[in-house]
Amino acid sequence: MTYEFTKEDLEEIEKIKAKFPEVMPATLPTLWVAQNRFGHVNPDVQRLVAKTLELPEAHVHGVATFYTQYYKEEKGKHVLDVCTCLSCQLCGGYDILEHLEKTLGIKKGETTEDGMFTLNEVECLGACGYAPMMQITNDSYINNLTPEKVDSVVETLKKGEKPDYEQIEMPLRKVK
Ligand code: FES
Repeated sequence: MTYEFTKEDLEEIEKIKAKFPEVMPATLPTLWVAQNRFGHVNPDVQRLVAKTLELPEAHVHGVATFYTQYYKEEKGKHVLDVCTCLSCQLCGGYDILEHLEKTLGIKKGETTEDGMFTLNEVECLGACGYAPMMQITNDSYINNLTPEKVDSVVETLKKGEKPDYEQIEMPLRKVK
């Protein structure tokens, strides 16, 4: 498959480049443009980003592989990142992961045959107080998971709707 940016993508990339005195810092946001366009940044897409920014392929590859948020291979339409780090683990993160493996009929790291879901086990996503939790495709956090809640999220996504999720309230810091 040949990957090409659209005219709109290239315009966006030019705007990104204009924000920086050098082109190198444009790598991260340009990889986002690429991932939003193609759904992943596999080695061919990384090469396209390098060519577009006129940067060494090794630099773009280094950036893309450093961050788990960039998908280095094709994923399902919805990527379910289940946290099993300490807080989530103590609150049943592995039960949630196993429940999803059973429900979706895949193991962690795999994608369902219909290309709808990819299931991942991930490290702490910074919402430990709401454990166990998962993130959906680098976006919404779904907190205080139970098997029932997970089932309802999966059903909602299958219907093409966005699941309800709780906004995390940030306590106001008191300034003396
Ligand atoms: Fe799961 Fe921190 S341990 S979000």
